[in-house]
Formats: sequence, C-alpha cells, structure tokens
Amino acid sequence: MADHDIRVLDESQVRAAHTLFRGSLHTAPAPDEKWEQVKDSYVPGRALGAFQDDELVGTAQSWAAGLAVPGGAEVPLAAVSRVGVRADWTRRGVLSALMRRQFRSFREAGEITATLRASETTIYGRFGYGVASRGRNVTVDRYRATLLPSAGTGGRIRLVDKDTALALAPVIYDSVGLTRPGMTARWPAWWLLNLPRALNDENAQLAVHRGPDGDDGYVVYEVKSSSTGHGKRVLTVVDLVAATPAVWAELWRFVFRVDVVDEVVGELRPVDEPLEWLFADRRVVKVTEVEDETWLRLVDVPATLAARSYGRAEPVVIQVRDRCLPENDGTYRVTPDGAGRTDLPADLALDVDLLAAIYLGDVPFSALAAAGRVDVLDPTAPARADALFASAQSPWSGTYF
Ligand SMILES: CC(C)(COP(=O)(O)OP(=O)(O)OC[C@H]1O[C@@H](n2cnc3c(N)ncnc32)[C@H](O)[C@@H]1OP(=O)(O)O)[C@@H](O)C(=O)NCCC(=O)NCCS
Repeated sequence: MADHDIRVLDESQVRAAHTLFRGSLHTAPAPDEKWEQVKDSYVPGRALGAFQDDELVGTAQSWAAGLAVPGGAEVPLAAVSRVGVRADWTRRGVLSALMRRQFRSFREAGEITATLRASETTIYGRFGYGVASRGRNVTVDRYRATLLPSAGTGGRIRLVDKDTALALAPVIYDSVGLTRPGMTARWPAWWLLNLPRALNDENAQLAVHRGPDGDDGYVVYEVKSSSTGHGKRVLTVVDLVAATPAVWAELWRFVFRVDVVDEVVGELRPVDEPLEWLFADRRVVKVTEVEDETWLRLVDVPATLAARSYGRAEPVVIQVRDRCLPENDGTYRVTPDGAGRTDLPADLALDVDLLAAIYLGDVPFSALAAAGRVDVLDPTAPARADALFASAQSPWSGTYF
C-alpha cells in the first residue's frame, strides 16, 4: 500500500505546489509579484499533488496543446511541466504515481500524445517517453559572415513595441500554422509565461515581416554582452516563425544585418535548418551542440499510429511493448495507407519509448536496430520500416517550456 495518494489540486493549493516544484530545482519560492504573473498559468483540474495525509510531497501539471505529425494532421497533446518531488520523498514511487495518474487523465481527455522537456535524460524513458526531436545550437561570427545576394521577398520588416508584440505574435504564430512535424500548437499559458519573459529584457526586440497578404512571420531576438570573450556582443534568436522559406530567409538575413553585434546565436534550431546556405562560406555557421528537444509519449499507440501518414513501401508488422500502459501492448501493421492492430506475426519488436523516438521521423528503425535496441525478426523489415516512417523534414517543436 502506497504511503501517499495523488489528488487534483484546487486553487488554494497551487502556490504551494509551485513552491515545491521550484524547491526541487533548487530555486527560491516565487515572490508575490512573480506569483501574480504565473498563477493563471495553472489550469484548473490539470495540476496534481502527491500527499501524505495532508502534506504535499510531489507535484506535476500539464497544459492542453496540439502536435503536428507527419502528413500534416494535428493531434491532441498534453504538455507536461512543473514536475517535482520533495527531496526527502524521492525514490519512493511518487513520480511514478503522478505519471500513472496523468496518463489516465490524458486518455480520458482524448489526449493521445504527451510531451515534456527533461531536466535529466535518465528519468522519463521508463515511463515511455522517448526523444522525438532534437535541436542544434549554432554560432555565427558576424564579421566573417558574408550573406549571399538574395532577391528578397518584396516584403518589409518592422520592429514593434512590446505591447504590439505581445498581441501580434500569437496571431501570427496561429496564422502561419504548424509547418513541420513536431511543431506544437501553443497554449494560452505558454504565451502568458514565455513571450513576456523574453521581451522583458530591455535588449529584446520583436521584428515582424509583412508580405503582400499581411504579417507572415516574426523573429524575437535579444542582444547581450557575453560575460566571456571580452564583452562580445551576442545576438540570440529566441523565436523565429515564418510562413514560407523566403520569409524564413529574410528574417535570418535581417538579424545578420543588425549593427553593433559580434556574434549571432541560434538555440535549439531545427537540425536540418539550411542556415549555412545563406552564406558565401558555409563554415561560418558553427554547430556548438545538438540537444534533445521533444520528449514524446505515445499515450494511445493505435490512435497515434493511425494519425500520421506513411511513405511508400511494403507493409511491416511491429510489436510494441508498453510496461506503463499495457493497453498499448500488441502488434500493429503499418502500410502506406495507414496503420492498425493485427494478429500477424511481428517483423520488428521494440519498447514504446523507442517508437516515440521514431514516430516523428527523428531516427530510423535501422539505426536503432544497428544499436541493438530493436528486435529484428525479419531482416528485410528495417529498410521497409525506414521508408514507411521517413519524414522529409527533421521533426522540431520550436516551443520550449
Ligand atoms: C525527478 C524526480 C521528479 C523523480 O521523482 P521520484 O519520486 O524520486 O521518482 P520515483 O521514486 O517514482 O522513481 C521511479 C524510477 O525512476 C528512477 N529515477 C527517478 N528519478 C531519477 C533520476 N533523476 N535519475 C535517474 N533515475 C531516476 C528511480 O530510481 C526509479 O527507478 P526504479 O523504477 O528502477 O526503482 C525527483 O527526483 C525530482 O523532483 N527531481 C528534481 C526536479 C526535477 O528534476 N524535475 C523534473 C523536471 S522535468
């Protein structure tokens, strides 16, 4: 019998949960002014607490969002955040109980996928989360970087003030839509927390691109003197949204033309973003790191497999093992026309966290088979599965939380 139970938090309990979460990451409680800014980001019914009697010992919460899957469909997504267990209660199954309760709620709400950003990479695989997209950090020495000539878009880029930025950015984001697998429909609390935080910095700006049909992209950037490198002035691209590749290029070209900047940095950008191709010398773009971005949980495997499109190849039968959600256990036949349960013998077998890593197209079956992470029952199957699950673009969320 567990010595704690999981309850949905009411409004009077969420501040204590916020304090517990911050404490688990060694951060002081939010002062009153800060709490006023964040309290509305707790959605009623979505914050959970683990209690021993009436003492709060752990917490987790989530937001309702949407995930773009290969083929362009958007599926319901639960974005999990603010997970913490009090230091004197860790390794007693509290997180496990919170996760199980979340999965049950997500399934009841029809949220067939869940995502989070992991503080440590060793925590979430056991719960069926896998790394489904990665981002790369890039640095460009602005003085060495020569932009190639461009015909441009014929549009115009303008800086807007903070209030206009806060109002305009969500509208542009929604009208541009989710343009690659892994992109996330942003929820109200994301905008409430993240854009003001980014723009609060007095050196941050939002520049909007206006095309013939209206505003069709923006870039948020900040310029700071780095503490290392003799006060080098670094422009960091915080958020870049573009309706078309031409607008994407124009916004990048704009940030490279901002004066009194020594270095331009992009953080967690798509791994296949063709930034190098804007320059006369491709080597000016230095990739400093590639990090895991989206941790994805296929909460309802049959529904998520059915939601995406597939490439052209002979069908493959995949056995999925799911220790946390045994209702997902089983074999699935994947064809160019769709996927569903089958009684046919499996060609490949794998755990559900690895299926999540493959699902958006970040890693092929054959790579995981080579690493011994996929059981290959038919040696011709990995190549077929690679072709079925391939995605033309690398998956990328672009929405950090
Ligand atoms: C990460 C955290 C929430 C785990 O909570 P917990 O209640 O100790 O987790 P559980 O007791 O349910 O552990 C379940 C399993 O995960 C393992 N595990 C949990 N946290 C781990 C970690 N940080 N590293 C490696 N393994 C971990 C446990 O050893 C256990 O393994 P087992 O099933 O083989 O016994 C807690 O340590 C914490 O609050 N950490 C600081 C805040 C944080 O990192 N939050 C996550 C933000 S994304």
